[in-house]
Amino acid sequence: MQNGARPLLDLFIKQTGGSGYFTDFFSKIFVTLTDDFHTLVSSFQYSVSSSEKSVSIRAHLWLNFPMRNPIIVALDVPTAEQALALAEQLAPAVGGFKIGSELFTSAGPDIVKKIRERGALVFLDLKFHDIPNTVAKAVTAATKLDVQMLTVHAGGGSEMLKAAENAAEETSWKLGRTPPLVLGVTVLTSLDAGALREVGLDVNVDYQVRRLATVATNAGLRGFVCSPLEISALRKVLPASAQLVTPGIRTGEEKADDQKRTLTPREAIAAGANWLVIGRPIYAAENPRQAAEKILGSLN
Ligand code: C5P
Repeated sequence: MQNGARPLLDLFIKQTGGSGYFTDFFSKIFVTLTDDFHTLVSSFQYSVSSSEKSVSIRAHLWLNFPMRNPIIVALDVPTAEQALALAEQLAPAVGGFKIGSELFTSAGPDIVKKIRERGALVFLDLKFHDIPNTVAKAVTAATKLDVQMLTVHAGGGSEMLKAAENAAEETSWKLGRTPPLVLGVTVLTSLDAGALREVGLDVNVDYQVRRLATVATNAGLRGFVCSPLEISALRKVLPASAQLVTPGIRTGEEKADDQKRTLTPREAIAAGANWLVIGRPIYAAENPRQAAEKILGSLN
């Protein structure tokens, strides 16, 4: 066991109350630690060798540590220049940046690289939903770009979700990096019961959200994007370690725009959100940096 691994393992067992089977069989452990996100991630590998066979098992452990900066700014702007100018200005005051379909489609993977080069964390929100093989390849490509979070549609089913999580872990393992958090998107907040019925799903929206979250958790996903009003229901069915990322945040000082069901940053954190995705209240403010600092200050 390498220096430093034992105390970390003990801490993991103490924090999670379990996984005692890890304790006796180690022949070697490699621990890499990062506190990029507020969740401390430790990845380790152990190998057990006997005369007949050699087994190598990998695991990624996630320990919840006190939150750092939970604000992720949605860079919902059309050009790389605008995105970089915002990132430059906001980086010291926020926890990361979300790159969605508009910016990625117009500026390409290069924008991810440029923001990562500046040391900021990136949430790539492309909501992959396809056959497992295709999603695995897309997640592999995103992981190679060194993003810290990415999204897949939980409705893609268990096999697709497992393929996504495995691709993130395998690729990170090969690159010696912390795997990105693969976030499941349950029911889009733009869909209501009528819209679900139209596509053949005669179910209550909340039920469908919980159901998809359970499927995704069982497939190995560790985080979800959810509306602020779904946080408490999801917290009841998800493992305590699940990471909840929440858009639909409004401070009360700006207009609600097209967000109908909103919470303030403080309310969302109190309800159990780990990360707040905030777009217009920051990037459309007269002084985006000041707006971000004010929101951060409101959390303390
Ligand atoms: O500007 P605003 O704060 O509303 O931005 C919210 C961000 O979160 C946008 O990038 C939007 O696409 C995203 N989002 C959302 N509602 C969802 C999922 C994602 O507003 N249900």
